[in-house]
Amino acid sequence: MSIKSAALAALASAYKLNGLGAVPSVIRSTKPEFGDLQCNEMMRLAKATGKNTHDLAASVAAAARNDVFDEVSVAGPGFVNFRLSNETIAAEASAMLGDPALGAEKQRPIRTVIDFGGPNVAKALHVGHLRSFVIGESLRRILSEIGHDVISDIHLGDWGLQMGKLLYGAAIASGWQHGDPVPFIKDFSFDEMSVEELGILYKSGNAASEDETALAVARLLTNMLQDGHPILTAAWKRMREISLEAVSATAEQLGAHFDLLLGESDAHSEIAPMLDDLVSRGLARESDGALVIEVSGEELPDNAPPLLLRKSDGAALYGTTDLATLRRRVRDIGAQQIIYCTDDRQALHVGSVFSAARVAGYANGIELRHVTFGTVRGWNGKPFKTRDGSAAALGEMIELALAKAAEKVKDKDSATAVGLGALKFTDLSIPRKTGYVFDIDRMTSFEGRTGPYLQYAYARICSILNKAALAGIVPGVTISVSHPSERAVLVECLWYPHSLSEAARRLEPFEIAERAYQVADTFSRFYTDCEVLTGEDPPARLATCKLVAQVIGKCLELLGMETVRRM
Ligand code: ARG
Repeated sequence: MSIKSAALAALASAYKLNGLGAVPSVIRSTKPEFGDLQCNEMMRLAKATGKNTHDLAASVAAAARNDVFDEVSVAGPGFVNFRLSNETIAAEASAMLGDPALGAEKQRPIRTVIDFGGPNVAKALHVGHLRSFVIGESLRRILSEIGHDVISDIHLGDWGLQMGKLLYGAAIASGWQHGDPVPFIKDFSFDEMSVEELGILYKSGNAASEDETALAVARLLTNMLQDGHPILTAAWKRMREISLEAVSATAEQLGAHFDLLLGESDAHSEIAPMLDDLVSRGLARESDGALVIEVSGEELPDNAPPLLLRKSDGAALYGTTDLATLRRRVRDIGAQQIIYCTDDRQALHVGSVFSAARVAGYANGIELRHVTFGTVRGWNGKPFKTRDGSAAALGEMIELALAKAAEKVKDKDSATAVGLGALKFTDLSIPRKTGYVFDIDRMTSFEGRTGPYLQYAYARICSILNKAALAGIVPGVTISVSHPSERAVLVECLWYPHSLSEAARRLEPFEIAERAYQVADTFSRFYTDCEVLTGEDPPARLATCKLVAQVIGKCLELLGMETVRRM
């Protein structure tokens, strides 16, 4: 039983005894002097029942007393405060020590598709992709940990006008000139092409298509590709492959796992039957030669434009492939919940796809959630850029973090884990909707809320446990509370199951990052205040150390970070 449910159970029976019909709620105390948990509902309930607040609070507190708590008291105008007994803390912490789930209860499994990373073919990964990879991977781990059946998919951008522009870049590079009959790719060897070269084709195609005639060709190429033109298809396949290889390497380096590496193009065969279905049921309508579906909903502005499903020239769009993919995820994968991780600039797009799916009946009873996040900024407060003014390349950001970590950590493998951990922890240590400034020195610092601080705390506890083992002392199987600082760190550990369920409910890895930090921070006070190896009961205190290492280790794992045993 979590400490929160213990307080809720005590309150439930106290409410009953006092004739209150409400469902109780309780929060963590805002200040330690108030105890461990508090209930702030007495003012509201007293008003509703015409009772005196203080009398009601006193009577609820009296009825809520049981041996889980040392004290249940009333403070201020009627707050009910709970202080856990040391016996409860010791018993709960001991139970947690022997439990691989660390006291977290598994939830009823929900088949969940999580869509993150989402790069576009040929476009270099940049700062904007960091957060989607890091937040998405952490959520994948958090949701799996809590018992859901999670399938991750990258949803590669490989089908829209972007591809026409890329093919245009390739056509030009292969010697095709405006005025030549068919703009396809002649004698162009893709076999030896690197991602960098691919990136150049993409850039040139993108830049050229600012001009109307070039754009018209790019549109034509998009259509030809979508219609299965064999030469374009072969070229596109190869370019997609080169790109996917590079993306997979970066994903692997970042520790992001994908069960599926599907893209927009994989929805192609679904598009025609889906559009027929929407037209035949009168849900999609013609508008200036294009096909659209009306959208509305809470997540959209009142005057949201309809979602464009087919352009007048016949091409499918980003929204079309997304809707078809959603439909397939529900029908073929059996998704009960689908989570999309993209920055908030895609809110209108994602909201429109959700709305269209609901209107079409493709998402009946399905939970659709958009996980957005704020921007990574440079010192000037603007989106983080490299010197040439383009968005900072993800690869360079990773290199920078690895180089900084190598300066600070001698052990090579540990330095890699610390460098990547620094990047990830920075990203996850603030609520995801908040942006942050990319400051490599702060990220790799060993002080404050940083990855290196936590990895170091973990390594330090491992070395304490090792040292004890060498002296023949092993951690006990029960934990006791022998000092206020030990009490404090154990209480932080006991909040772990709550942090996990909050992280899963709100899709917010920050909850886990903050839990890790609070545990590590209170641990360092405990370690300063209490002798572990030379004190009265070394096995009991070592058991506390072991639990702390387990909790920090689990949190880092959920954040997608590696732990190191030495630094
Ligand atoms: N490829 C998109 C981009 O680069 C992100 C894809 C997000 N996922 C989705 N199902 N729309 O912006």
